[in-house]
Amino acid sequence: MAQVVRVRLEELEQRGRMRVETPSCPVLVALVEGRPYAVEDACRHRQASLLTGVVRDGVVTCPSHFWQYDLRTGSRVDTLGEPLPAYPVTVVGDEIEIEVPDPAPVLTMREILLAHAREGRPTGTETA
Ligand code: FES
Repeated sequence: MAQVVRVRLEELEQRGRMRVETPSCPVLVALVEGRPYAVEDACRHRQASLLTGVVRDGVVTCPSHFWQYDLRTGSRVDTLGEPLPAYPVTVVGDEIEIEVPDPAPVLTMREILLAHAREGRPTGTETA
């Protein structure tokens, strides 16, 4: 399942890019050559926001350590590496609809420990 987040097109046109908080993750919405695109706003290095990064030719440079991502696809352009998730965007009238995944379920500690035990992974509760 996915959920749809809406942004006013006029607001994006005025700002050029904006960060949108969603229940699953922060999203960076940006115009590239007049078209809106959306990627997760959390750099794959140390989760910095890309909102204030320099954008040139559709490529945003992370303001923290300068990793670079294509805003149209989320892919790394400075080297091979984990891309940013990119989300489908549709313009509907004067709004932009961004399709983002549902948030990951929150597990209790008991559920986490049981999952680790089933997989044979250490739970951190073993005694020597
Ligand atoms: S946090 Fe983005 S490059 Fe380090």
